[in-house]
Amino acid sequence: MMKFEYYNPTRLIFGAGSLERLGEVVSKYGKKALLVIGKGSVKKTGTFDRAVASLEKAGVKVVEFSGVEPNPRFTTVLKGAETAKKHGCDVVVALGGGSVMDASKVIAATVLYEGNPKDMFVRAGSGKMPRLPEKALPVVTVPTLAATGSEMNNGAVITIDDEDEPLKTFVMAEALYPRAAVVDPELTLTVPKNYTAYGVADIITHVTESYLNNTEETPIQDRFAEGVILTAIEYGPRAVENGQDLNARTQLQWASIVALNGWVQVGVNAPYPVHQIEHAISGLYDVPHGAGLAVVNPAWMRFAAKHNPDRFVQFAQRIFGVPVEGRDKLEVAMEGIDRFEEFLRSIGCPTRLSELGIGEITEDVLYHWAEKTLEVLCDEEGRLPGVPPLSKEDIVEVLKMAI
Ligand code: NZQ
Ligand code: ZN
Repeated sequence: MMKFEYYNPTRLIFGAGSLERLGEVVSKYGKKALLVIGKGSVKKTGTFDRAVASLEKAGVKVVEFSGVEPNPRFTTVLKGAETAKKHGCDVVVALGGGSVMDASKVIAATVLYEGNPKDMFVRAGSGKMPRLPEKALPVVTVPTLAATGSEMNNGAVITIDDEDEPLKTFVMAEALYPRAAVVDPELTLTVPKNYTAYGVADIITHVTESYLNNTEETPIQDRFAEGVILTAIEYGPRAVENGQDLNARTQLQWASIVALNGWVQVGVNAPYPVHQIEHAISGLYDVPHGAGLAVVNPAWMRFAAKHNPDRFVQFAQRIFGVPVEGRDKLEVAMEGIDRFEEFLRSIGCPTRLSELGIGEITEDVLYHWAEKTLEVLCDEEGRLPGVPPLSKEDIVEVLKMAI
């Protein structure tokens, strides 16, 4: 296990019916809230009205900012920050999925950022270090979809959309931790089957990224990760099958938080290569993040298992009960990956690039995606950090396995 320091200041208010407490919670941080929402699902479900009622009852004024798109755009964030400034908002409430929560965090930081807010994002390929935001308006998250864990972490993923070509990149900064997360699994009952399944793929990938990265002697982190994966495998299909299953929704919501609030990742080398490759694709083609992960993760696993079979053997054995006695390690590892891929398919996730509806995928296209990946994150030798580190050619090879 590596040395580590852990900090997570987000207050978590969890459980069915928690939405009623939104006003009480937000009123601790501000008097005028920018209420950030997506393309309208929260209005259709009535969640928006209930949130506004709770806020107003607690004496918090509400300024609406709607229209945050899945894979949120930088120009949308700028508009949100303008709206917050114009109305003098002193707190930001994120009511939606990961896209709304990420946009809200960056809006909150942009309002107080000195200089060009684009500079806060990671673009390692440019050789420039990000200028992280040091302050932000207080943010309260209210997730309506179990997937990203953004509700209780300090990351935000944004697509830069005002340059020649979109680039999906990220910022991680202490100032972006939400002050509080009001997590009410009832709000996720309306998530359609496909996004429920993509959320399951996202939750699992958040922990496989660290689990499969080969840091030795991390028994507690391993079992945390296995707990998240087994829970997602047990309850994910139930939520896909019956969206109204509140128990299944509750377990997924908790799994999504545990998967990415930093707890599972402490002391583990977790550079997220699968996420980086997927972000290049969802940035360019606007595919849902979890669908992209379901395609890239098994392909990356098949590539990485050859370099690092032991962890994959553990994954196969402990998650899927694959027999190991007297068998070749790589054979066991590959059987575990096959089982994982079958699971993803069984809940309705795509597992091939051709299923993402992004047109013809030539070798040149794959090289371009690899370049986009490395534009965001690369080590000093120009490789994507991970076990093993991936050169441009390696990324192309991973992607070929997903065709
Ligand atoms: O826009 P609306 O109308 O709200 O509809 C959304 C959207 O179409 C809909 N939805 C959300 N809650 C719903 C609902 N529909 C019905 N009922 C509900 N209760 O679902 C669609 C997808 O929403 P989105 O927020 O895009 O999904 P998700 O939560 O998967 O977030 C994905 C974004 O988060 C980033 C991804 O890259 C992507 O941009 N990530 C953020 C992370 C973080 N901050 O820590 C980590 C993740 O790895 C990820 O990269
Ligand atoms: Zn993710």
